[in-house]
Formats: sequence, C-alpha cells, structure tokens
Amino acid sequence: MKIRQILLFSAMSTMTFTTVNAQQSPLNPETEKKIDLLMSKMTLEEKVGQMNQYNGFWDVTGPAPVGGDAQNKYNNIKKGLVGSMLNVRGVKEVRTVQKIAVEQTRLGIPLIIGFDVIHGYKTLAPIPLAEAASWDLKAIEKSAEVAAAEAAASGINWTFAPMMDISRDARWGRNMEGAGEDPYLGAKIAAARVRGFQGDNTFRSPLRIAATAKHYAAYGFIESGLEYNIAQIDTNTLYNQVLPPFKAAVDQGIRSVMNSFNTVNGVPATADRYLLRDVLKGKWGFNGFVVSDWASIREMIPWGFSKDENEAAKSAVEAGTDMDMEGGIYVPYLTDLVKKGKVDQKYVDDAVRRILRVKYELGLFDDPYRFLDEKREKEVIGSKANLEAVLDVAKKSIVLLKNEKNILPLKKSGQKILLLGSLAASKNSPLGSWRIASDNNTAISVLEGMKAYKTSSVSYVEGPKLTLEEPTFLTEVKYNSTDFSGIEEAKKAAANADVVVMVLGEHGFSSGEARSRTDITLPGLQETFLKEIYNINPNIVLVLNNGRPLAISWAAEHIPAIVEAWQLGTQTGNAVASVLYGDYNPSGKLPMTFPRNVGQVPVYYNHYSTGRFNGDPNSVFWSHYSDAEKTPLFPFGYGLSYTTFSYSDLQLDKKNYQKNEPVQVSVTLKNTGNVSGKEVVQLYIHDEFASVVRPVRELKGFELVELKPGESRVLHFTLTGKELGFYNAQNEFIIEPGTFKVMIGGNSDANLTASFTLE
Ligand code: BGC
Repeated sequence: MKIRQILLFSAMSTMTFTTVNAQQSPLNPETEKKIDLLMSKMTLEEKVGQMNQYNGFWDVTGPAPVGGDAQNKYNNIKKGLVGSMLNVRGVKEVRTVQKIAVEQTRLGIPLIIGFDVIHGYKTLAPIPLAEAASWDLKAIEKSAEVAAAEAAASGINWTFAPMMDISRDARWGRNMEGAGEDPYLGAKIAAARVRGFQGDNTFRSPLRIAATAKHYAAYGFIESGLEYNIAQIDTNTLYNQVLPPFKAAVDQGIRSVMNSFNTVNGVPATADRYLLRDVLKGKWGFNGFVVSDWASIREMIPWGFSKDENEAAKSAVEAGTDMDMEGGIYVPYLTDLVKKGKVDQKYVDDAVRRILRVKYELGLFDDPYRFLDEKREKEVIGSKANLEAVLDVAKKSIVLLKNEKNILPLKKSGQKILLLGSLAASKNSPLGSWRIASDNNTAISVLEGMKAYKTSSVSYVEGPKLTLEEPTFLTEVKYNSTDFSGIEEAKKAAANADVVVMVLGEHGFSSGEARSRTDITLPGLQETFLKEIYNINPNIVLVLNNGRPLAISWAAEHIPAIVEAWQLGTQTGNAVASVLYGDYNPSGKLPMTFPRNVGQVPVYYNHYSTGRFNGDPNSVFWSHYSDAEKTPLFPFGYGLSYTTFSYSDLQLDKKNYQKNEPVQVSVTLKNTGNVSGKEVVQLYIHDEFASVVRPVRELKGFELVELKPGESRVLHFTLTGKELGFYNAQNEFIIEPGTFKVMIGGNSDANLTASFTLE
C-alpha cells in the first residue's frame, strides 16, 4: 500500500487540473473563530463523538430497552458521543433527538440529521437515471429543490445525494441512482442537483439542505457489475471519466462527500488517502466533510485490508474519512489511538472542524430547531406545487425509442385500447427503490393515468403475473417464470383491440443497491407474453419500466412502438398517459447505451477505435463478435419525437485556431414535422491523434431546443481548452495541438461533421 501511495504522490506533483482554483466558498473567518473557540472547549472524546453517525432507532420517542443497542445510542448522544444521525425523520422524531444533543450534552452541539433523499422525499420524482434522460438541467434542479424542501420540512438537514457514479455496466443495480455513462452530462447534472439541494449555498432558506457527492470513487466501475466489488481502474479512466462529476459538485460548493464501498486498485476507497486527502481536500480545495458509506470503515476488516478495528480507524481517519456512518469504529477506538500517540490528533481536529463548519453553515448553532416546524411540515410535504414539479420532470424523462407507422400518439377517442401487464396497474413499482420516506402504493399507475382520459376507450387485463409475491425493499424480487394463468384472457382481449399497450420490464425493487443482474432481458414470462400477444395483434405499444438499460433485441425488431418510461415516481401514470396520447411530445434521450445482449456489456459510446475497429468483411481478424453485432441496440443520446428534425449548415468560424482561442461552432436545426417538439442538440468532438489515444467521440456540449413546425434556429456552441483537453498518461490536464472533428446531431451517432486544427 505504501508503494502505491508513493507512486501516486509523485504523479501528483506534476498534476494540473482544469480548474485548479476550486470554487468552494472561501472560509468565513467569523465561523472559523467560533469553531476554534468551541474546539478549545472540547475533550478528545467529544471531538471523536462529532465524527460518529448513528442510524435511527425504533424507540426514539420512548424508553429504550436496557442494555440494547438503542439504549447505548441514546446514552452516547447524552455523553456528546454522537455528531449525526441518519434515518430519523419527521419533525417530532428529529426534535426528540436534537433536544437531547442540545439540552442534555455538556456543550450542546446540535446533531446534523442525514437521510437518503435520492429522488424525492414523500413526493417522488423519477429515478435519477430517468431524470438524466431529460437532459433538462432546470427541471432536474427543480426536482432536487422539491426533494430538499420536503426533507427539510421533515427536519432533515443533509441528503446523501446526488450519486454521480459514471457507469457503463447495465448489470449494476445502482445505475438507477446516477446520471448514466457520460462524464460531461454527468458533471452538468451533478452540479444542477447540488444547486437544487443547496440553493445558493447560504442555507438562509430553511428549505435547502446540504448535499453529498457519492460514491467517491469508481463505484460505477465495480467488476462484473457485482455489488460491493473491486474496481480495477486505470488513471486515464479515473481522471477522464469518473472524477469530472465529483469535481463539478465540489466547484458547485457541495458540503459533503461519501466514499464508496469498493476498493480502488486494491485500496478500499474509505482509506484512499490519495483520492480523499490529496485530490479532494488538497487539489480541489474541498472544505466540507467526508462521510463513510454505511459501515465501510468496519468493512475494511473483512476486505482483508485492516487487521482489526484499530487499524481500520487509523487508516480511515488518516486518509480523510471524517465521519463514521454506523460502523461503530471511531468512538470505541479512535480516542485511544490518539492518546497512545498512534494517530496524530491533527487528523481528528481536521475532521471535527469540517463537520462543525457545515453545522454552522446550516445555521444549526444559531437555532438547532430551525428545521423543525410542524406547520411547515404539513404545508410543504406533498403540496400541489411539488406534485406539479415532479409531473413536469416525469414527462420530460420519457424516451421514445421507436414509433413505426405513427402508431403513437394514441387517439383520444374512436380507438379500442387494451392495456396489459401487472406493471400497468402497479402503484408501487413506479416509485422505484429509494423511497424510504414515501408511502407504498402511492404512485398514479399507468392504468389510472390512462383512465383519466375519459373519452378514450381503455380496458385492462393483467395477463400472467409479474411476480409471485409483492416485492419489498429488503427482499429479492421473485419474478414469475412458471404461472401462465391470465394469458388466454389477455389473448382474447388483444384479438378485439385496435392497439395494445403492454407495460413490461423490471419491478422498481429490481434496481438499486445490491440489485445486480446477469440477465438484463425482460424478466420472468414477459418476453413470452409479448410474443404471444404479438402473434394475435402486432399493433403493440411497449411501455418499458426499468432502472437500467435492458437488452430487448426481439422487441426492438418486431414491436412497432417502444416507450422508455423507467420508474417515474408519484406521477408516473399521468406522465406516461400524456405522452401516449400526445399531450406531451416526448423529448428524452438515453443517458446510457442499450446493449443488444448482456455479453456486450460494458458497451458505451465514447469507446476507442482500436487498431482494427472496422474490418474487412472477408477476414475475421478485426474487432468484432462472431455471434452478434457489436453496435448497441440504442446508442447513448438516442430518442425520438412525434415530430422530426433536420440538421444542416454546421460551421466553424475558422479552420485554424491558436491554443486558448475559442472555437465557435454553429448549426441550423429545423423542425420538419407537423407538431411542436423539443430536441436535445448534441455536440461531440474527436481528437484525431494524441499522446494518449482518445475516444472515437466525446460529448462536449448540448442544448435543449423547442421548435414549432417548420421553424428553424441557428445554435451556437463554444469549445475552449476545457472541452478540448484531457488528462494524459501522467495525469496532467493538457491541450494538445492537432486536428479535431466536431460532430453534431440528435444522438451519439451524430454524423454532421466539420474539422479544425489547433496550432
Ligand atoms: C449506500 C449509501 C447510502 C447509505 C445510507 C449505503 O448502503 O451505499 O448510498 O447513502 O447506505 O443509507
């Protein structure tokens, strides 16, 4: 481990970052003085106590069992040995624990209350991957703002979101929680979400909360998409793909960072001094605090990295993990380690200062009860405005993947529509898997959303059941793969329908933490169900529900219309119905590549050309699979509309540029169809020859544009060193002279091309 760190340290000394001058707010001297004073009064035990975070316990409002875990936690709060709690929520509950911290401890330091507010609190927005498909930064920011407001009104001050792990592996369950595969889009979305949660970073409003950039780092690159696994990652990928969203969040002023469960090239991220202390807190100037992931400090023991709790505590704190989430490591072991001279107290002091700083910034010292107002709690949570905001982003998250013969939009009258599938009537699955504060079965189902179109003739038949029992957050989803009952009724109904809408895919609990899958086709009997109905009535609209890319090759070839509807949260049915009936013209674009089959995974658009990317059809010696095409089923950035767009007149202001001279790009977009629509115009670049081989294309700009039928608009993009540079083999951010291609279009296969030279 030592050798690795020395090597990385020496790499650090030559490293330069695009924006070295981090935009974390400068420290407030007044606050720092208050922290000095407070820390001068704290015992070592109390300092370590601030670094301890407990999970909530069932009896916060009543007596705890003697000798039990809750009793212990309860006593520790009183002793000043707890700095934070998670999973305590609701004004009443939070007040109970906050009162103990403020009124019964020696120094009265308030707790910071954390919670996983991932895509909403009570009112749920689409899962984050779905929201990313909107490419609509304002709507994404608004969604985080709504989530923050509801959580804050419930007494929470800090969310463990946004997750910004770039991932190329559809097998990984946590894709649902991120923004997909691209670092440029991922960074923009990360910043938008931080703005939504934290507002202007002053926390003057009691409806904004501190955000967490997670999981630092490379969690999305865990091997085989298998949860909690190792990440073996080269520095080229780490710097150019994984870190940009984290850097963007830090620049946006994010107040905390959570480390990840995985190892990064052999070292648990929890103890990765280079990533935490040197890059994050050093080069990037991050002045908030780092929280471990759940028990990740303790898990370094079974990893085989730390021999015991003492070693785990030492390596985590020295690396820069400031707070121990439910690991039970810092409080019992760290104080002694410092007293015995085995850990330098400066690490504890640094951690405590950071934690106290965020508590001051949140105004908790001025008024520890400022988030605790029953009236506000009632008014804010589930408000009409919040429901409208999540409906808006839900519509924008839907991606139209196929629409042959304009089978969509459906007609609002005069068409016999049959709706099929358990998911069509589900009020639970659309809520996704991260919805601890929300109530089960509270989503508007697709069936309800369609029934609200009163003039339309919609009948519903379930068909074979999706699962054998109702799945939960804590259990494995068991898909029905044996019981075909219901199929005959569905077939009979299909024979009489003008159009059949089938809602198929994954249950909401099939993605999320610990939900890795090796088979990413439609689970259970659904593919057979789809084929059986197709044989009777091929006029099918397939509405997909999923939290990851699915391999749906057969459907993509045969089914005339496919709508990617993810899990869209509380307003799912209303959003889906408005797209199906054409009241909202779909505008989403895939934030992750959809593979043809799982064997292609990882498959992603910003891959490399290799020495033999395109082959001679008469030879086998080129980069290909013998049994399948290597191209994706649907590329990154892909999505259709009820209208069509044309791209023309791609122009650069010059042919040759000096280094640091901005490259001005323009293109004309025209709505060539019959209805108004939105298009995400995407700009990609390719650096043709470089000291480190560059991806075949990289997203470096996008704009969401709305045009009326026949309308056209000239769009402008500027490319600077920030977009044209990259991290080289020495991990230095450099801009190399050479020729570049610019490609613009409506997805990552964009083929309108121009070239320029950088002198
Ligand atoms: C997850 C984190 C989450 C934490 C607290 C962990 O299992 O990996 O993302 O914030 O639990 O719930």
